[in-house]
Amino acid sequence: MSNFSLRGALSTLALAAAVTAGPIQIQEAAPSKSGYSIKWQDNFSGAAGQLPDQDKWWLGSKDHWNEEWQDYQARNKNVQLSGGNTLQLVPWKESGTNCKTNGEAPYPVRTHQCWSSGRVESNYYFTPASGKKTVIESRLRFGSNSAGNNKGIFPAFWTLGQACNTENPGHPTCGEVDIMERVNGENMGYGTLWCREGDCGQSDGTSLPNNDWHTWAVTWDRTASSWTDQSLTWTMDGREYLRVRGSDVKNQDSWNYIAAKPHRIIFNVAVGGVWPGDPSSSTQDGYGAMMEVAYVAHFQSN
Ligand SMILES: *[C@@H]1O[C@H](CO)[C@@H](O)[C@H](O)[C@H]1NC(C)=O
Repeated sequence: MSNFSLRGALSTLALAAAVTAGPIQIQEAAPSKSGYSIKWQDNFSGAAGQLPDQDKWWLGSKDHWNEEWQDYQARNKNVQLSGGNTLQLVPWKESGTNCKTNGEAPYPVRTHQCWSSGRVESNYYFTPASGKKTVIESRLRFGSNSAGNNKGIFPAFWTLGQACNTENPGHPTCGEVDIMERVNGENMGYGTLWCREGDCGQSDGTSLPNNDWHTWAVTWDRTASSWTDQSLTWTMDGREYLRVRGSDVKNQDSWNYIAAKPHRIIFNVAVGGVWPGDPSSSTQDGYGAMMEVAYVAHFQSN
């Protein structure tokens, strides 16, 4: 049995009253890797119920994409430190319908249950350096809800090009690296690369044995002198499930947006949308539907 329920329960308690006994400490921070230095990391230490460090993370996203249902809220009900050195992103059903308050309009013209959820975007931008290997890695797990109660739940760990903050060149040309995405509680995690239409779109999945802790990473290998020989490799627990080479992308401008320009790191739990489809009447909210993050780090080879 995992200690997930206990931590969830204690964290819920922390919202209402002071916790007298701390939750179980998992003591998982970014590991040291031989031949690499850590350029940036967060291990999510701090008291239960606090927001994550807002010097490191921006919590302000209110936008909607892909017909998703959730409203991301910058509050500890949806985004909080567990007190056990983890970050919890927790989707909740809210009362009422069509309660979208902000973001792109018009939002799906149909009646649906309101959901709130959590999203964090790093204020930090990493740029995969020429001549180096760059690893963006996180250890994360999921809540214990069964797949049958997870319809529409859509957690993601990904990076987005800084160029996506501006209208030019637009998305997906500005570059997006989806390190891990999971829909509907299926036992699969997916990696996908986005850049200019026609140049990217490579995607593959890896089977996920359980909801428990796994380490997800993408390595940008820019040690080859020619960009066509450089690559991005996706791994779960060190096992490769997708590799894209410069030569697969074909266009150097497109390659630069995904491999040579600054990206930020994002974690979120979306609800509904084009890929997972709508939540069902049996979709459950709360800690059983969360994504929990032990650490995230940017490593660079020496
Ligand atoms: C966790 O992160 C803090 C702040 O960056 C750092 O001071 C501390 O050493 C880290 N803890 C571990 C166990 O790595």
